[in-house]
Amino acid sequence: EKGGYEHFMLKEINEQPRSIADCMRGRLDAKNGRLVLGGLRDYMNKFQNADRIIITACGTSWHAGLVAEYLFEEFARIPVEVEYASEFRYRNPVISDKDFVIAISQSGETADTLAAIELAKSKGATIFGVCNVVGSSIARATHAGCYTHAGPEIGVASTKAFTAQISVLTMMALMLGYQRGTLTESKYIQLLNELEGIPSKVEKALTMNNNIEKIAAIYKDSRNFLYLGRGYNFPVALEGALKLKEISYIHAEGYPAAEMKHGPIALIDEEMPVVFIATKDTSYEKVVSNIQEVKARKGKIIAVVTEGDIVVRGMADHVLEIPETAEAFVPLLSVIPLQQLSYHIAVMRGCNVDQPRNLAKSVTVE
Ligand code: M6R
Repeated sequence: EKGGYEHFMLKEINEQPRSIADCMRGRLDAKNGRLVLGGLRDYMNKFQNADRIIITACGTSWHAGLVAEYLFEEFARIPVEVEYASEFRYRNPVISDKDFVIAISQSGETADTLAAIELAKSKGATIFGVCNVVGSSIARATHAGCYTHAGPEIGVASTKAFTAQISVLTMMALMLGYQRGTLTESKYIQLLNELEGIPSKVEKALTMNNNIEKIAAIYKDSRNFLYLGRGYNFPVALEGALKLKEISYIHAEGYPAAEMKHGPIALIDEEMPVVFIATKDTSYEKVVSNIQEVKARKGKIIAVVTEGDIVVRGMADHVLEIPETAEAFVPLLSVIPLQQLSYHIAVMRGCNVDQPRNLAKSVTVE
């Protein structure tokens, strides 16, 4: 059932070209400029006219929500708040019937997310689910939704569900932007075409770095890791750190790169591996200066870069390349080498990759 792989996690990482394509199948048809999300049809009006989008989730699904915050605000110009379900549900939050709430959950059974939905529903908000498991509690508790169609995810560390969640949220943001007129037709068509090509770029990203195991072997005994990124890659930094800590038990923190000088920079010495996501986008130059700051303090630099980058290559101790794509779609590619790196480090440390200690695949208690 592991399809020849040693672990479900590795199988699921490698399935991503297919799971993303499955997620977009029947929904995205770039050639004809079409994007259809059946689950959204009856609620498009509510979505388009919402005062605010509130996204609620836990863990990796919350990270997908953070990526969506950038997507919705960039393309649709609607303010977004991303909430940990466990905090939201107990805060007596201000919610009205003009709010459009998106709950994201792979399992569809996460207790806090379910409770956050019930609360928002009782205040009159429209609730939209982005779930992987068909017929799950969250899928049933929401007014409408869109399945991610990633297929069963067995490994406790979420991988293919994350990229499928982002794929659905990206399609939602593009549809919304186009409908609201905040995204021009030509830009929309251009983005649809780029999105359709993402599965083959993920395929390439999966095989283009044959140095990952070597990097894993060098840093597997590190006590700490720092992950830094900006813009669309900030949530990816959080996700990279979570992947490492949950399966390898190495302490890791993700930060927006510019926040480094407000505290975490004190941690940097020659023992500290720092993973930068430094792709060629609008924050590239800024990230390059952040890399220089770490280098000046002798930190070890592992950088995820756009294919062909030579500037960061000249500065970093190791680089992991990904294909070039639209800035908004980079998380779908930049997370790939981070998933692979955490997988190999965990395997080399002898950890139970698919079933890490103290963790359950779905957290059905609060
Ligand atoms: O099933 P859900 O997406 O609601 O689960 C949320 C989190 O429990 C989950 O993403 C968790 O953080 C993963 N183990 C991360 O890999």
